[in-house]
Amino acid sequence: MDLIGPHPVLEFARGEKVSFSLDGRAMEGFEGEPIAAALHANGVKVYRHTPLMGRPRGFFCAIGKCSSCFMVVDGVPNVRTCVTPLAKGMRVETQEGRGHIPLPGGEVA
Ligand code: FES
Repeated sequence: MDLIGPHPVLEFARGEKVSFSLDGRAMEGFEGEPIAAALHANGVKVYRHTPLMGRPRGFFCAIGKCSSCFMVVDGVPNVRTCVTPLAKGMRVETQEGRGHIPLPGGEVA
């Protein structure tokens, strides 16, 4: 007797395996899974360091409601990686402090 039968929560397609980078290091994950999940599967637990004390932060709520998983993704800071889907070739960086937005001409905001 099956205790768990077909159910929509248990039936989801996994995306294709894709490459991305973390701080310049090559990593692999599955397209469409949260970036943070792919990092966790690669053994990465620290996603950013706090602005004042430089303390490490990683997964906390995992539903997009805090700021623990902020990272710089393709040059954009403060991306909630626990709810942002992974895509092929993404450039993910550990965020230091509040992060800085690159401006045209090489300046940062
Ligand atoms: S872990 Fe809380 S927003 Fe991502």
